[in-house]
Amino acid sequence: MLKILEQLEQKREAARMGGGQARIDAQHKKGRLTARERVDLLLDPGSFEEVDMYVEHNCIDFGMAEQVVPGDGVVTGSGTINGRLVFVFSQDFTVFGGSLSERHAQKICKVMDMAMKVGAPVIGLNDSGGARIQEGVASLAGYAEVFQRNVLASGVVPQISVIMGPCAGGAVYSPSMTDFIFMVKDSSYMFVTGPDVVKTVTAEVVTQEELGGAVTHTTKSGVADLALENDVEALLQTRRFFDFLPLSNREPVPFRPSSDDPERIEMSLDTLVPPNPNKPYDIKELIEKVCDEGDFFEIQPGHAGNIVVGFGRIDGHTVGFVANQPMVLAGCLDINSSKKAARFVRFCDCFNIPIVTFVDVPGFLPGVAQEHNGIIKHGAKLLFAYAEATVPKITVITRKAYGGAYDVMASKHLRGDLNYAWPTAEIAVMGAKGAVEIIFRKDIGDAEKIAERTKEYEARFANPFVAASKGFIDEVIMPHSTRRRIAIGLRKLRNKQLENPWKKHDNIPL
Ligand code: HXC
Repeated sequence: MLKILEQLEQKREAARMGGGQARIDAQHKKGRLTARERVDLLLDPGSFEEVDMYVEHNCIDFGMAEQVVPGDGVVTGSGTINGRLVFVFSQDFTVFGGSLSERHAQKICKVMDMAMKVGAPVIGLNDSGGARIQEGVASLAGYAEVFQRNVLASGVVPQISVIMGPCAGGAVYSPSMTDFIFMVKDSSYMFVTGPDVVKTVTAEVVTQEELGGAVTHTTKSGVADLALENDVEALLQTRRFFDFLPLSNREPVPFRPSSDDPERIEMSLDTLVPPNPNKPYDIKELIEKVCDEGDFFEIQPGHAGNIVVGFGRIDGHTVGFVANQPMVLAGCLDINSSKKAARFVRFCDCFNIPIVTFVDVPGFLPGVAQEHNGIIKHGAKLLFAYAEATVPKITVITRKAYGGAYDVMASKHLRGDLNYAWPTAEIAVMGAKGAVEIIFRKDIGDAEKIAERTKEYEARFANPFVAASKGFIDEVIMPHSTRRRIAIGLRKLRNKQLENPWKKHDNIPL
């Protein structure tokens, strides 16, 4: 008996060595951890339960019959993060470059199926040379099986991808269909075709990093959500992030007790909005002052900075924040910010996360490029996302809410549950100057008259009371009591019930 136990331990040890010490050393030399080291850091100590450790590939071509490594290049199983269940797969670059074979794909599918059955998130740690070249179409089939599950799991359990090495070709489409992508700087890349193919086809010369590195995807393309310095930071931030998410669409948001009084008054907010309406201020200050302990996890901080999105907690419960940022493009909505916020709002709605929206928006960004690149359709995404969302929605207008953007930003008319405004709010079709120049076009040569009309318009509309008189604003609140108002509102809305009409699915303008 003892011998059998020893043999089992030896078998396990062999599997844990992956592609062998030399390849493990090579991985470390690149500043990367191995697949198992990553899992250990991600999960609570001792919580990982591995499955399919002895799975082998089934390929006999190109000398593969002689090269069999137990586990076949991916470590799979489940564990906990701060005590909450999560399913994990971690590709092992030391085994055939982490490439995806039929069996490797089956292992990933098995944990995804289990995650969906029991209702727990899936975190994928990606580090792979792509399709296992020796296996040909069997490997492509494996990818498609994973893709299919990504789609079925979407909106059922949260899916997070951490890109920690190569991710190229069709392989990018699995992470791209998950909810969040974190990347490691100078160590990971994602592209459909690499620099060599790009050069051949378009004669453009570009490095891997420029084409699809962490910085590129978290600033220019918006494909990824966060760029982290190294493997350790990426995994620790993933743990922190995980704590905000519910386990599935059937679960309420997690609760984390806080000593931060939900009714805390924040006097400094009374002077956040500058007297000059054209002067910017940092909307993140408001978010941080409203969150429990100022703990705000921002998503896509480097992309479309004119809108800020991310998670925080109020009264211990997770909240999704969406806020126009006056510091960037005066907080205008444009193509990128609409797409960024729409996806975030839809994630929150999938997973029962209440949405708090802070509005300071002078409108949609004008421009030929915006129009020609489809701001009509992309702007509609955010409008659509807010309108279909049935989770609790609380909106606070801090300053400008002009034009169509007023409607879009979780207005009363899109089923906002509680719509508040600060006394500094200006809710109008447009800014006073622009309005007067249109209504009183004939007076344009007369500066005095125009100034007078502008003052008149401001007096009438540069305030929240016209909207409040129509019931579009539920209450004009003191900035210093914003956290208190939101906390009370969220408590009130905890048992909100609202359903959209039956349909197979909607047809959001893609
Ligand atoms: C089989 C692979 C492999 C692959 C790497 N290896 N990629 N084995 N299939 N796709 C093996 C290597 O042979 C090597 O084995 C080990 O992994 C490490 O690879 P190196 O090349 O030594 O590492 P490095 O220099 O760091 O380069 C990493 C790399 C490179 C850039 C990822 O390996 C590479 O270009 N690989 C091929 C990428 C590719 O074209 N994949 C197919 C894409 S098409 P040894 O034994 O020497 O350690 C695709 C389609 C998906 O993925 C479609 C889905 C719909």
